[in-house]
Amino acid sequence: MDTRNDNSTKHMMMWFFLGMLFCFMVVESDAQLSENFYASTCPNVELIVEQAVAKKYQKTHITAPATLRLFFHDCFVGGCDASMLITSETGDAERDAPDNLSLAGDGYDTVVLAKLAVEAQCPGVVSCADILAIAARDVVGFAGGPGFKVELGRRDGLVSKASRAEGKLPGPELNVSDLVEMFASNGLSMTDMIALSGAHTIGFSHCDRFANRLYNFSTFMPVDPTLDLAYAQQLMNSCPRVGSDPNAALPLDLTTPEVFDNNYFKNLVARKGLFTSDQVLFNDFSTQSTVVRFANNAGDFNAAFVSAMRKLGRVGIKVGNEGEIRRDCTAFN
Ligand code: HEM
Ligand SMILES: *[C@@H]1O[C@H](CO)[C@@H](O)[C@H](O)[C@H]1NC(C)=O
Ligand SMILES: *[C@@H]1O[C@H](CO)[C@@H](O)[C@H](O)[C@H]1NC(C)=O
Ligand SMILES: *[C@@H]1O[C@H](CO)[C@@H](O)[C@H](O)[C@H]1NC(C)=O
Repeated sequence: MDTRNDNSTKHMMMWFFLGMLFCFMVVESDAQLSENFYASTCPNVELIVEQAVAKKYQKTHITAPATLRLFFHDCFVGGCDASMLITSETGDAERDAPDNLSLAGDGYDTVVLAKLAVEAQCPGVVSCADILAIAARDVVGFAGGPGFKVELGRRDGLVSKASRAEGKLPGPELNVSDLVEMFASNGLSMTDMIALSGAHTIGFSHCDRFANRLYNFSTFMPVDPTLDLAYAQQLMNSCPRVGSDPNAALPLDLTTPEVFDNNYFKNLVARKGLFTSDQVLFNDFSTQSTVVRFANNAGDFNAAFVSAMRKLGRVGIKVGNEGEIRRDCTAFN
């Protein structure tokens, strides 16, 4: 064997892989967003937002799940452009789409309050989309989750239609292949999808979103055989088949509902995921090993969550001269 030739092949391979790595890095760090986007125009923006969000969070801890979920919904419907915040007198804006019904109003309030504080110091400079991205990062930290840098430079969208939400947001009865497909259409991998589902470590749900797993009209067993029986009983007590309170809110993470931790994944391993779309992540062979890894290693989960949140924040963004910098987050200029 000619070792010299072998070495040059190795070199070629090395340069090839370095080249590939470089390409991936360029694609990875979206050139259009940057962590210091407002360095000269509003250098304290992150501090101003953080203080406003902290105040709101101290008033009610629902601020955390409400803001985090709002960010997710905004990004998946027409991109991270604050179009989910527009209010319409005729009730046909994105926030009027059926799934909004369940979005806690505290998420909207948080962004509106933070925007007021920012406008007082840097009028007309910072987009509502960026304020929502910063606020979503901050609430994760307040609830005990990882801190991370947020990329900035998004512009606010000029379109908000309830009809745009159709088929864009995942339903709680989806299976893994449908979840993977929906996240992939937003540039997010299977691992991103699993990590982002970990957002269900905080917050609450209404009975109708998981009733599909509970009542079989012909037996006394829960419909979903993968649901832990004691947990199913607990859910049935809180959400009776007849006369269930439509406003009753049950924790998504039964162990630590207000803390951002990896207990969500431990619950899945214990068959105590609330939605079908949660539990299938453990039940399905393709996603199980990642769920188990996140359940056993909080650091792995945190790192994957941070990476996925940054990617989520790049979905469908408007930059440069696109869109506008809204003065009032709930109305177009
Ligand atoms: C993977 C697919 C997902 C499905 C099927 C799903 C579905 C749901 C449903 C049905 C609710 C309960 C709504 C209610 O009854 O009030 C909920 C709540 C929530 N979701 Fe998701 N979600 C998904 C992914 C995500 C992602 C990616 C995030 C954020 C990164 C997120 C954050 C939240 C939060 C924080 C809550 C609690 C809201 C509150 O307490 O106000 N979800 N989700
Ligand atoms: C949207 O959410 C608000 C509360 O935030 C609610 O009053 C309104 O009825 C919802 N709209 C629809 C169509 O569900
Ligand atoms: C997932 O659900 C969709 C729609 O409900 C169905 O068509 C598909 O066959 C399911 N896939 C798997 C792997 O179960
Ligand atoms: C309810 O239980 C019966 C008897 O075990 C079974 O045949 C049926 O498929 C179940 N229905 C649902 C919706 O799971």
